[in-house]
Amino acid sequence: DFQQNFLDESRWHYLTNGLKTTLIITFFAVILGFVLGFLVAIVRSTHDKTGKMKILNALCRVYLTVIRGTPMVVQLLITYFVIFGSVNIDKTLVAVLAFGVNSGAYVAEIVRSGIMSVDNGQFEAGRSLGLSYRQTMISIVLPQAFKTVLPALANECIVLLKETSVAGYIAIQDLTKGGDIIRSQTFSAFMPLITVALIYLIMVVVLTHLVGKLERRLSQSDRR
Ligand code: ARG
Repeated sequence: DFQQNFLDESRWHYLTNGLKTTLIITFFAVILGFVLGFLVAIVRSTHDKTGKMKILNALCRVYLTVIRGTPMVVQLLITYFVIFGSVNIDKTLVAVLAFGVNSGAYVAEIVRSGIMSVDNGQFEAGRSLGLSYRQTMISIVLPQAFKTVLPALANECIVLLKETSVAGYIAIQDLTKGGDIIRSQTFSAFMPLITVALIYLIMVVVLTHLVGKLERRLSQSDRR
């Protein structure tokens, strides 16, 4: 009798361990993505404003074009089977790298739009106070840009959380894969897959609620 209860206690761990893996990949990919994204955004903006960093800027543009121009799943497969194809490396780490590098491209464009939204007068003010370009960027422009794009960055975290559901393509047992394993073992699709969907939905709704709160708080402090 293959038809067993889908949450036969021996199967719960596919969902709990899967969720853990999903959260770990998302967490570290978000960090990597933010670091990469900020660096790329700073290079691009510096090039726009000063004309410097020509080569670095060109490299960043290639990165943005390639990452945003190809599907995440394909990037994940290439990272695992081509880039790390001949080395023994932890699959979770591969996923963190692939999702982080992917997210970095989107974060870069978010942050760059934030930097562009800061009036150029802020730059001129900083420079005329005797601050260097770097000091002006770090202590005057970036903080304002950051505040503007905070909601968009929070949304990127939500997107990334859902995007990690393709990690099963390199045989990582994340939440989605966990549910699918239960489906294949029990020959019943409805309960495991709906459960997986509900878990994602709850996480996304909670995060979206938090982003909304954040947005309201930020706009409050704008009414000076
Ligand atoms: N699903 C899209 C793709 O395959 C989006 C990738 C991730 N998007 C993001 N904002 N991190 O390319």
